Amino acid sequence: MKKVITYGTFDLLHYGHIRLLERAKALGDYLIVGITSEDFDKARGKINVTESLAERMEAVKALGIADELLVEEYEGQKIDDIRRYGIDIFAIGSDWRGKFDYLRDYCEVVYLDRTEGISSSDIRSRDRLVLGLVGASTNVDKIAREAGFVNGLEIGRSITDERDYDELLRDSDAVYIYARPERHYDLVKKALESGRHVLCETPLSMKKADCAELFALAEESGLVLMEAIKTAFSTAYARLVLLLKSGKIGEIVSVDSACTSMEEFEGAEEKDLSDKWNSISDWGPIGMLPVFQLLGPDYIEKRITSRMHPSAPRFDLFSRIDFTYENAVGSVRVGKGVKTEGELVVTGTKGYAYVPAPWWKTDFFEIRYENPAENQRYFYQLEGEGIRNMLADFLKAAVHKSPQTRVEPQVTAAIAGVIGDFCAGKDLRILGSRRNHAGGNEENGTSGENS
Ligand code: CTP
Repeated sequence: MKKVITYGTFDLLHYGHIRLLERAKALGDYLIVGITSEDFDKARGKINVTESLAERMEAVKALGIADELLVEEYEGQKIDDIRRYGIDIFAIGSDWRGKFDYLRDYCEVVYLDRTEGISSSDIRSRDRLVLGLVGASTNVDKIAREAGFVNGLEIGRSITDERDYDELLRDSDAVYIYARPERHYDLVKKALESGRHVLCETPLSMKKADCAELFALAEESGLVLMEAIKTAFSTAYARLVLLLKSGKIGEIVSVDSACTSMEEFEGAEEKDLSDKWNSISDWGPIGMLPVFQLLGPDYIEKRITSRMHPSAPRFDLFSRIDFTYENAVGSVRVGKGVKTEGELVVTGTKGYAYVPAPWWKTDFFEIRYENPAENQRYFYQLEGEGIRNMLADFLKAAVHKSPQTRVEPQVTAAIAGVIGDFCAGKDLRILGSRRNHAGGNEENGTSGENS
């Protein structure tokens, strides 16, 4: 019996796939089809496959052409499969010509002409979404660049002046917003009221209550509202959260994160800093993300301790936010005028998780135990700092109505609440305020401090 094997994603099954399978089958007596797993596709850069592995397998099976199906999960698996199943012929479309010649050491390799004029990418692009961009920053540039990797997502107009917002909304299906955090609420609300999906840079708003209102508005209108917090979409970080929630290190006792970047603020006046994001707005959301995702949004108490810029009393060069929960604590350090090790450590009753700097864009983490022989290391491909996955998820949620699960609305609201409290001076202690160099006195330096 002549055994043939072929592999593919087979997303949104089309006649190009069917013709390929029929010709592969005709090469022998028994056809095995390897369907790529979601992880394997992501690792090789196919990030916005629409259908799940189960759906794709079901569709290929229903054709009745394949005699057997298997899942392709890792690089190099083809050699293993060919040996294990005693394969005579490996067949694949001509778009792969030359790429699998190395398999000639194990079986015959046949490249079948690809059917012209159809592909899964084309079908995915039919449901396109035009994304308008608001704001000027490297974040906006990265969104524009990464959108190029997501089939169906088209960058439309881009504006830097809010006066052009109406026109942008008119010409877009969805908007990405990067503005001063205190402007986010109005811009998001207006977009939702105009029937546009929204991807908004974090923090979504400066008040917890605003977030609840905006999410309710989005839901009523059947629109997607997502906080653009890229770390949540990086595969390594998302897997780490799932592992820890599954009890991998026992009960979580402490979550400690640090995120800093060096910026030159020496000699800057308050007006020079007025359009800059302070540390808590810029880094706070990412720093707080693992605390709220692992310990929940409902802490018992918190304390923010900040060191302000000498001439800008609301511009924190460094902040430390400490959260107390029933049985755990969280601690976040953020800064734009300090430098420290940007790591994430999660302490548990059985072991701990260690994510090296810069943890917010990592492809690696380690689970460590008392006995180092039990330590486990995990690697996941990180494409585009998580932005690419974030855009793919946004598109799927907007066009295919898939649920958005990476950032829970309660987490978005909790982040907004902390930043809002900082601005209001609640739970805030300002360092150096006894000798207030900002020209104030102890009272205004620590205004709102609750103890
Ligand atoms: N194939 C084909 N003719 C097409 C499309 C695909 O012969 N028009 C073949 C591929 O060469 C491969 C198999 O079908 O051998 C599975 O391909 P897959 O990558 O799943 O399909 P594509 O439509 O190429 O998907 P994408 O656009 O996501 O790359």
